[in-house]
Amino acid sequence: MSKVLTVFFSAEGNTRALAERVNAAAGGDIFEVKPVEPYSKADINWKNPISRCNKEKIGKKDIPIVGTVENFGDYTTVFVGFPIWYYGAPNIINSFMKQYDWTGKRIALFATSGGSDIGKTVGKLRPYVTGDCRIIAAQVFKSGDDVEAWVSGLVK
Ligand SMILES: Cc1cc2nc3c(=O)[nH]c(=O)nc-3n(C[C@H](O)[C@H](O)[C@H](O)COP(=O)(O)O)c2cc1C
Repeated sequence: MSKVLTVFFSAEGNTRALAERVNAAAGGDIFEVKPVEPYSKADINWKNPISRCNKEKIGKKDIPIVGTVENFGDYTTVFVGFPIWYYGAPNIINSFMKQYDWTGKRIALFATSGGSDIGKTVGKLRPYVTGDCRIIAAQVFKSGDDVEAWVSGLVK
């Protein structure tokens, strides 16, 4: 049996709830990607042009993350979850992906959104994922979707 890891970032709780379902179905370990500086409500107000999220989007700087995944090399399948921000993964997910060697891993992306589909999220994230690995799935989930069936089709 391969080792499975579920990784997630969530600013407002939607992706956390989804990640908990993914992890329960996948039966592995879970790691929360937490920013060293938590996002306040004002920080994620994308309607304000000078809010933190808008500045980070333009700046493309790495977002410091609390802690690291222990024994990352042991995992063969990694589920990575996040809210769609600006039609893609949030910068903190780019920063997370950059920190690890993904050689040999199967990566499945899952997301929540306000309505956007997965769109070009995979292509935008790919440059931050180093090592010979495969992104085997990428999906935005809406309420009522069968998350467990999706997970069980990917875990082997
Ligand atoms: C900075 C920011 C940008 C967002 N961009 C999009 C977007 O491009 N498309 C979309 O459908 N929803 C967008 N949303 C909405 C979130 O994807 C959605 O509310 C998500 O479920 C939040 O997940 P969370 O509760 O795990 O943080 C955005 C939200 C924020 C805060």
